[in-house]
Amino acid sequence: MRVCVIGTGHVGLVTAVALAHLGHEVVGLDSDPERVATLRAGRAPFFEPGLDHLLAAGLASGRVAFTDDAAAAVPGAEVCFICVGTPPKASGQASLVAVERATRAVAHHATGPAVVVEKSTVPAGTAWRITRTIANERPELAGLLHVASNPEFLREGRAIEDTLSPDRILVGVEDAWAAARLRELYRPLTEQGYPYFETTIATAEIAKHACNAFLAMKISFANALARICEAAGADVTDVTAVMGADPRINPHFLAAGLGYGGFCFPKDVQAFERLAGELGYDFALLRAVAAANDDALHAVFAKIEHALWNLEDKRIALLGVAFKPDTDDVRFSPALRLAELLLAAGAEVVAYDPAALPNALAEQPALRSAPDPYAAAAGAHCVVLCTEWGELARLDLARLRAAVAYPILIDARNLLDPDEVVAAGFTVHGVGRPPREAAPPVEAFRREVDGTAVGAARMRLR
Ligand code: UGA
Repeated sequence: MRVCVIGTGHVGLVTAVALAHLGHEVVGLDSDPERVATLRAGRAPFFEPGLDHLLAAGLASGRVAFTDDAAAAVPGAEVCFICVGTPPKASGQASLVAVERATRAVAHHATGPAVVVEKSTVPAGTAWRITRTIANERPELAGLLHVASNPEFLREGRAIEDTLSPDRILVGVEDAWAAARLRELYRPLTEQGYPYFETTIATAEIAKHACNAFLAMKISFANALARICEAAGADVTDVTAVMGADPRINPHFLAAGLGYGGFCFPKDVQAFERLAGELGYDFALLRAVAAANDDALHAVFAKIEHALWNLEDKRIALLGVAFKPDTDDVRFSPALRLAELLLAAGAEVVAYDPAALPNALAEQPALRSAPDPYAAAAGAHCVVLCTEWGELARLDLARLRAAVAYPILIDARNLLDPDEVVAAGFTVHGVGRPPREAAPPVEAFRREVDGTAVGAARMRLR
């Protein structure tokens, strides 16, 4: 099928190359000519495992192309995906300006029947707005352009896998022809047995909100639990392991830490709460979810402050700035927010991240950066582990210990084995578990002194 994908950000680009991989003819439309040139040259503008490969394959086969010209992309497309950004406004509502612009471009250039699919994460009710916009722009096309909702459930860092092996495909559609076109589009996946939900548009829109809000709620529950565990001397990782053994709860998204970040959960929770209010329901639970998330970050900040007394004149090594591992995305990254709190309190912050440093430095130029974790830790009074990259799980703790000024490690993601960290000579503070003091260095000091002339004289006296 001929497909047009408007917006080549995370969702749009992954959708475009994945649909090309499934055999469709895809044109990616983006208003930024620089981005289009980068994509035509086969370079993905952000890091996502497997994306470069699919992009290269799509370009080589000719099944994917990019343009900034709507007149070249829209005519002839049977399905037009709207995947443009919906950033939060100061009010907490999602800004839908780009969605309206994309809709108008489709209405202006469409030549025949097509399905206009909202795939950007949008507040419920947006499909109706899209329909109205089409009717206003081109009343004569009102019966030919059918609006549908097809929310995505892809995670950054696993976006290709989530798209090509989805745990569900959700399509909200109310016109029989449009429903048939979308079933045909996804046939290569449904033939492999991936579940396909066909619902009304309102149901699909609310289902997307519900999934993200529920996942965020699980994380906030774990973070609230962490605070109680700290006060009670319990270990939250064990508590959540016990909870997760119950299949009704399951162990996923119960990791306490710095809280959730990224471009989805923080804005989606806020937008859903606002939408509920507009619809006449006070979703206080979601405000509590957001508050617990803020609290998780401030609790880690307080831990660092407590461990270091004054933050002025202190050097802090921040390991991981991406909002989660396997991405270079720092939007709403809790690690970056923590760095900003530390900088504001007068500390020097030296960051290391396997992929996200350029983005982090662009957003926060006061940050210093280091080429590896050990260089970041050189002379540091505290090491704070903020993102659970695989590389950071395999740190050489003895080497890290040799680099630091003070052996204090805040494991803000409970990534490391506290026994190993303590054995390497660190005092370790996790989240929701008792702090563990490094073995007092007296023994080591005594052995060191015994090797010197003073020590030898003292031995003789003894
Ligand atoms: C999320 C959802 O998982 C996707 O299903 C959804 O499609 C996407 O939002 C979206 O709406 O576009 P994503 O933002 O890529 O995906 O990241 P997640 O893997 O969900 O992680 C979100 C945040 O929660 C990260 O900061 C992560 O560190 C944090 N998290 C996750 C925890 O703090 N604890 C956990 O146990 C799990």
